[in-house]
Amino acid sequence: MNLKNRDFLKLLDFTAQEIEYLLELAADFKQKKKDGVPHKILEGKNIALIFEKTSTRTRCSFETAAYDLGMGVTYLDPSASQIGKKESIADTARVLSGIYDGIEYRGFEQKIVEELAEYSSVPVWNGLTNEFHPTQILADFLTVKEQFGHIKGINFVYFGDARYNMANSLMVGCSKMGVNFTVCSPEKYFPDKELISVCKSLAKESGASIRFETDPEKAAENAHVLYTDVWVSMGESFDVWEERITDLLPYRVTEKLMSAARADAVFMHCLPAFHDLKTGIGSEIGQKFGLDCLEVENAVFESEKSIVFKEAENRMHTIKAVMAATV
Ligand code: CP
Ligand code: NVA
Repeated sequence: MNLKNRDFLKLLDFTAQEIEYLLELAADFKQKKKDGVPHKILEGKNIALIFEKTSTRTRCSFETAAYDLGMGVTYLDPSASQIGKKESIADTARVLSGIYDGIEYRGFEQKIVEELAEYSSVPVWNGLTNEFHPTQILADFLTVKEQFGHIKGINFVYFGDARYNMANSLMVGCSKMGVNFTVCSPEKYFPDKELISVCKSLAKESGASIRFETDPEKAAENAHVLYTDVWVSMGESFDVWEERITDLLPYRVTEKLMSAARADAVFMHCLPAFHDLKTGIGSEIGQKFGLDCLEVENAVFESEKSIVFKEAENRMHTIKAVMAATV
């Protein structure tokens, strides 16, 4: 398998075999890290991280993975660079590819990261856009594999706003990898029709099913994985909270919903999560709407069925695999 110099912009650009290869590589790096076996295979290389939105997991994963591989890192925060303000994406790409061996980009529209890649001569990695979050899905799949021993044939249910990066990328990943994917939300939150039709044909090839359900209990039946994400994503207006809460409250992952799934079902979330009121936004929203949690109950989040922190750790191992494979 040779992925050298390939961009990692969305899972649609990769075959099931290539995704499987990245998962195996990540598992191998994870073992090396646990065993204390050094793997500085990219010594002398350097990467740039562009973040136009905030991040904890993705930034820390790219930085740590780069250090483990022996690379140097420059972090460009939303206010520290000229990107988009004084310098176009195309110019930025050509400048940075003369200096660095890889570029990570987190920001708004997918077309920005696609343009960056078009003009860059070094690999570009998507660290999250409005439409896709492909490195997150690698971590999710590695975690599912560790939990169940395989990903093909797993029943994976996503609850919440399915029009955004997480549900889009999960739907693509699942349909490529033979994972049965159910979207559970009110109809107006179903993903883009064009993407659904692409995924349906991918699912035919892999043997996966793609299902749309408005009844949470029905969706949870026989599920291995119950997955959710924040109801309002980065970059969206604060004003949409009220409508989201009204629409999505029945789709919150509760203990009752978990018990409608398989006995060995797990809870997953890309994080950050509003499972209590111990955050600035969580407490503001909670107080305003009289809620003690949003997309997931604290009892589920803190339960033994919750594998969210293993999932978060796997961000680092999988991002390392993407960089090692492409630089
Ligand atoms: N899951 C995820 O991408 O987290 P961050 O926003 O903290 O990077
Ligand atoms: N949908 C969320 C994912 C965060 C990792 C967002 O875009 O804010």
